[in-house]
Amino acid sequence: MVSSGLSSLTASKAGDASEQRWPWWPLLPLYPYGRRRTLVRELIPGQVWAFEQLQGIFYVAVPIRMTVLRLRQGLLLYAPLPVTAELLAALRELERHHGPVVTIVLPTASGLEHKLPTPALARAFPNAAVWVAPGQWSFPLSLPPSWLGFPPSRTRVLFEQGLPHGDELDWCGLGPLDLGLGTFMEVACLHRATGSLLLTDALVAIGADPPAVFDADPTPLLFHARDRGDQPLEDTPEQRRRGWQRLVLFASYLRPAPLEVPGWGEVLALAMAPGLRHPRFYFGLYPFRWQPHWQEAFRELVPGDQPRLQVAPVLERLVFPRCRGALVEWIGRLAQLPDLRWLISAHYEAPVACDAARLADLARELVTRPWAPEQDSWATLARIDHTLLKLGLVPRSPQS
Ligand SMILES: [Fe+2]
Repeated sequence: MVSSGLSSLTASKAGDASEQRWPWWPLLPLYPYGRRRTLVRELIPGQVWAFEQLQGIFYVAVPIRMTVLRLRQGLLLYAPLPVTAELLAALRELERHHGPVVTIVLPTASGLEHKLPTPALARAFPNAAVWVAPGQWSFPLSLPPSWLGFPPSRTRVLFEQGLPHGDELDWCGLGPLDLGLGTFMEVACLHRATGSLLLTDALVAIGADPPAVFDADPTPLLFHARDRGDQPLEDTPEQRRRGWQRLVLFASYLRPAPLEVPGWGEVLALAMAPGLRHPRFYFGLYPFRWQPHWQEAFRELVPGDQPRLQVAPVLERLVFPRCRGALVEWIGRLAQLPDLRWLISAHYEAPVACDAARLADLARELVTRPWAPEQDSWATLARIDHTLLKLGLVPRSPQS
């Protein structure tokens, strides 16, 4: 059902830097900055494809994904990615086989990493309709979508101005939830023909092994797999796995409990070791020290070998700490969608097998376990939330 390998049509080579250039990176300066490799995987033959890149800070990089659906009228792009020549060439190839891109969907109101690439993608497909989640906002200035580059004549708001491809797709919104600085809104999309449920940020499936999108350049994994700044980067499957699990802990908790930050004296003493005097290795600067039991924290997050479906901790503690009810109610609605088989989020692992029972289990887990905890690895996120509350930047009752 799901192809594991890459066909020649959809495989991205490690290669041509000029084809991978993304000039808009300074607007959201995340790793890998101006060079975005795109890995294309055919998830369901002839029907669903994943376009994947990396994004992150200081080599804490996680996958970000645009999903392409083949519909009767042509192709739909869900959750846009930064446009590069390489990405466009792969989309043109799909168009040649399966029809034109007819619809582009920005399914989130708050996910800047998905919103920012949308205008350029819309310009690349001037005949496509652009549908956006309700409640779009910008910060620090509240600008109308047309000022942000969205084409006014063909941009429409999901739910408020209809829903595209209603004969093939089901749409299910979470929100709007008041975040204080703006609004959280995410719109899930079920592709009935394949039972694929497309999601953006609210739910993710995190696995114990690094995703294939790191294969072209595993440097972020190898960088974080080390214990000291003077250790060379060693490329082994075990080091890749260690690095991945640490990246997940960083991305999930910002500062997980088993991580210590050594003083700058120690960091500088270990810097500039032979072989590491290069910007690619941050000149050996490595301000991290992992306690020996660090892997237990990862096992709490991902207990088994199969990807675990979950609310990402950073969202639970900073976006949904006072919105558990709305989230659980939304998961309940997703569970009622017909013939659900696969879950495809815009981050981490995809596709993962899913059905109504699995979503119902997740909803049950979320209401029975402690929500948005304060202790251990959650402490940094909790501190940020308390500070935002104290400053009045986030509401105490977001849904009121
Ligand atoms: Fe996202």
